[in-house]
Amino acid sequence: MKSDKEELNGLRESLVKSPDDAVLRGRLAAALLGTGALEEAEQEYRQALAWSPGNVRLKLGLAETYRRRRKNSAAIVILENIAQEEEAPAEARLLYAQLLIGEGELESAAREYRKAVEAEPSKADPALAGRLGIGPEELPDGGAADESLTPAGNGYLPSEAGPEPPRISFRDVGGMEEAKAEIRKKIICPFCKPEIYRNYGKSPGGSILLYGPPGCGKTYLARAAAGEALNARIRFLWIGVDEILDMWTEDGGGNLHGYFDYARRHRPCVLFFDEADVLAADRAGMKDVSGCRIINLFLMELDGQRYSNEGVLVLAATNAPWRLDPAFRRPGRFDRMLFIPPPDKKERAEILRLLLAGKPAGNIDCRLIAKRTEHFSGADLGALVDAAAGSKIREAAQKRRPVPITDRDLFEAAETIRPSTVEWFQTARNYAVFSNQDGFYNDVLAYMETI
Ligand SMILES: Nc1ncnc2c1ncn2[C@@H]1O[C@H](COP(=O)(O)OP(=O)(O)O)[C@@H](O)[C@H]1O
Ligand SMILES: [Mg+2]
Repeated sequence: MKSDKEELNGLRESLVKSPDDAVLRGRLAAALLGTGALEEAEQEYRQALAWSPGNVRLKLGLAETYRRRRKNSAAIVILENIAQEEEAPAEARLLYAQLLIGEGELESAAREYRKAVEAEPSKADPALAGRLGIGPEELPDGGAADESLTPAGNGYLPSEAGPEPPRISFRDVGGMEEAKAEIRKKIICPFCKPEIYRNYGKSPGGSILLYGPPGCGKTYLARAAAGEALNARIRFLWIGVDEILDMWTEDGGGNLHGYFDYARRHRPCVLFFDEADVLAADRAGMKDVSGCRIINLFLMELDGQRYSNEGVLVLAATNAPWRLDPAFRRPGRFDRMLFIPPPDKKERAEILRLLLAGKPAGNIDCRLIAKRTEHFSGADLGALVDAAAGSKIREAAQKRRPVPITDRDLFEAAETIRPSTVEWFQTARNYAVFSNQDGFYNDVLAYMETI
């Protein structure tokens, strides 16, 4: 039998001769997925799909790869599309059902599960059925499923997919009260009580752009907002930098429309574009025609003129607002532009408390450490706590018991870490002074006066 490596090499060689052979590329992608080379598998699936966009097996493979890369939102969008076909493969429905459980959509998950087992009774999975509250008596053959044929055993669905990243909520985010209040006001409340808002002529939905120095919690806040949204049974689609880059390929516009379309069909829904500058790079600096198209399409989707965006909230974040096309920054494009500054002293103390929770630590004076960590971002504080913890690990190993982190460890670590926000403000100052169109940088300038 050929080893994995020999098989991969063989497929790669054949592809050099016929690079546009989607079937061959699909086989390479599946082999890569089998060996756990997820990033490469994703690339190959995407390329194969560019040649053969309607191929369900390829779509399923890509969805599976996304799910194993924990890009659940991207996987769900593909699977929903596959599941619309009556003849959708049972594996696709099973995978879709598993992901829907993660979203708290038990009814839809049970529907997909039943359809899968109806089409292929041998695919019955007692464990999954149990999670959905479906008893064995409901299964077509009385539930006598062969273990070797359950999804985890058929070599297709992952048995080794890692645990989901823990769900967080606003309680896990230190400070950022204004941003939390804004997101609550725009997302959680109107979606939970739409009738009250409608009485006042307001419809739920809208758009918020978060911008500011790196490491200050934009992505983290969005993760917490996703947790809050899911608790309130609001869908949250996460569109990261890879998915955005994917939009620049030939059928990229279709993907972008796909996300908006999905959100509109599943209102209330939040669409979160992380690192949105990649999407909205300045048109003047863009040689690539498809890039221009994506920006225009995004603006069109956002305007909601062709389709109503009621019940859809678009959230976007960027560390590099100067890379955004000015059309994005113009007032009115996003309903709210929120500058997310570095944490202040009180917020730093709170973030330190959150970071130290659950770690062996003595009686730490977080307020004092906050005082000595001016200009530190949340991520810098994370690095600080990691460094202090690292210094204790060797000692703990020697003494064979946990040795608590002390104030002194944190002070010492602080000496070795350069706050990362300083450089951002130097760059931002230049833009604020030389190209403050429409007063976009006013909040940044006002903040700089206080430091
Ligand atoms: N307000 C905060 N509360 C708790 N942790 C924070 C906060 N801000 C940042 N962090 C920590 O710093 C890390 C980096 O923040 P991140 O959200 O990735 O920054 P950004 O997206 O703004 O570049 C987070 O994963 C989190 O651990
Ligand atoms: Mg980020």
